Amino acid sequence: MDDYTRQSLLVRSRKVARYVRLYGLFRTIAKVRAHYHMNNEYPETASLPVPAGPTGKHVGILGCGKFAYANVAYYVHQNFGAVIRGVMDTDLNRAISLAQRYRADYYTTNADDVLNDAHIDLIYIVSNHASHAEYAIAAIRHGKAVHIEKPPVVNLDQLIRLCTAIDEHNGRVRLGFNRPESPLVRLLKQQLDAQTGPAMINWFVAGHAISPDHWYFAEEEGGRILGNLCHWIDFTLRLIPAPSRYPVQIIPTRSRQSDCNISVSYVFGDGSIATITFSAKGHTFDGVRETLNVHKGNLLAQLTDFRTLRFDIGPVVRHHRLWFRDHGHRRSILDSYLMRTDKSKQETGAMIRETGHLMLKTREALETNTVMTVTAGFSRSLA
Ligand SMILES: NC(=O)c1ccc[n+]([C@@H]2O[C@H](COP(=O)([O-])OP(=O)(O)OC[C@H]3O[C@@H](n4cnc5c(N)ncnc54)[C@H](O)[C@@H]3O)[C@@H](O)[C@H]2O)c1
Repeated sequence: MDDYTRQSLLVRSRKVARYVRLYGLFRTIAKVRAHYHMNNEYPETASLPVPAGPTGKHVGILGCGKFAYANVAYYVHQNFGAVIRGVMDTDLNRAISLAQRYRADYYTTNADDVLNDAHIDLIYIVSNHASHAEYAIAAIRHGKAVHIEKPPVVNLDQLIRLCTAIDEHNGRVRLGFNRPESPLVRLLKQQLDAQTGPAMINWFVAGHAISPDHWYFAEEEGGRILGNLCHWIDFTLRLIPAPSRYPVQIIPTRSRQSDCNISVSYVFGDGSIATITFSAKGHTFDGVRETLNVHKGNLLAQLTDFRTLRFDIGPVVRHHRLWFRDHGHRRSILDSYLMRTDKSKQETGAMIRETGHLMLKTREALETNTVMTVTAGFSRSLA
């Protein structure tokens, strides 16, 4: 989250060298460009008009920050060419910068331009957290497919309205929970599903240090449980087979803060137990660090930083190592593009309800420091 463009040449060089090893040259270049993109300035003072007719491009982006630039637009453009038609950000410079780099037809500071654009059939929502559900509901009502970056909602009212919009308009939606799309996780899931009985799941996550004035911490944006922990909450939920999940007991462990340097445990209906420990102390030079240990039946698995995976299955030991970290961003963003025509890529309404509800209840449990229980009935009755 640091602005590396303002660091010394030595720090910038070391960061780039490290990231080339972790993510490869091209991903690193995209990430570096995204940091400079945030500070680009242009003489233009107004949005461009929406072209009246079709131009062959059909994708819209709401929110043109680092993630939109280095991941969403990057992968869409790399795989499908110049298909981005309209981009919007409340900051005109960011919208111009992204539009120019990825050859969009227009940039704007008015979300309605993109939402009302009849030639856009897919919108990626990559803006501040409080706006995700509002933009998604409007996009669904306009009949567009929607990729909603995490978190999909910041409160229960948004979750209910989002689920209602999906149900009423047959909304085509995918959530930006990319980690389940990582190739190592797909392997892990296969092996886990082959085992029976409850699982023991343990996450240790060292998150970025974020300055207290970062927008993630603004009251209306939902804080770090919704902004960051939602990734591992969602992932953990998906590791438990749907019929085995409820009731889920949420047990918080915290000190002074409710959303950093905390731990939260879940006891699922089938007796599976999961703990997520989220540490945010100093700076993590290699980005977010994540270790997952899982034990289920005869399977013992350890996943480290979405790059290495070790399985012990009885006497058999298997190691998998990727050249570069793969958190599943590419696949998640491309699947959202494909969802326009491939129904199998869409997220189910049930999953959106369940994951949204569990992350909101987790935040409540940590804020109030009380044990909470989520039941299937409540999750189902949301919409
Ligand atoms: N899936 C992942 O792994 C992952 C990783 C990083 C960020 N993200 C998500 O991507 C989104 C953007 O994060 P980022 O890191 O790019 O942040 P950022 O601060 O770099 O960018 C946010 C952008 O949104 C713009 N914005 C603010 N309010 C807006 C509004 N109401 N409408 C439109 N634009 C608005 C800001 O001007 C800024 O350009 C967040 O939802 C974040 O949680 C996801």
